[in-house]
Amino acid sequence: MPVPVLDAARVILALKSAAARTPKRADILSLVAREIRSAGAPYTSVYFYMLHGRELVLEAFEGRPTHHTRIAVGVGVCGTAVETGRDQNVGDVRAVQNYLACNLLTRSELVILIRKNGRILGQIDIDSDEPNPFTPGEEEAVRAIADALGDCLPES
Ligand code: SME
Repeated sequence: MPVPVLDAARVILALKSAAARTPKRADILSLVAREIRSAGAPYTSVYFYMLHGRELVLEAFEGRPTHHTRIAVGVGVCGTAVETGRDQNVGDVRAVQNYLACNLLTRSELVILIRKNGRILGQIDIDSDEPNPFTPGEEEAVRAIADALGDCLPES
């Protein structure tokens, strides 16, 4: 397997040190968004949507702003991930019917769920301008970060 662009170990180190410094979830998420995006292409924009009841709320992001700041469970790629309990790797967003577009440049999207003690806490949502860039290795790297977040993050 080729070495992934995203160095999960580096991001997890930064995450753990941030979590030791601050209990504020938004601060930790902002830092992790920045760290992931600093990997460069294909990581164009990084969004953290956290679950509040039946709604996903954008709590931090790095990259292009989005007007989708709240997404109902079941809606779009993000809401589908929560509804089905499954990560989503969409190689071509134009092929997905319920896709919620933020801009016209995004070609693909990866959503990895963050779980704490088995319960869904939220998700890492990554947009890319490249078609189908999220290999199993990239997925694994993002999942390792999501799992570390599940261990470190406060519940709200
Ligand atoms: N594309 C997502 C919406 C979030 S934005 O990409 C940041 C979706 O279909 O749920």
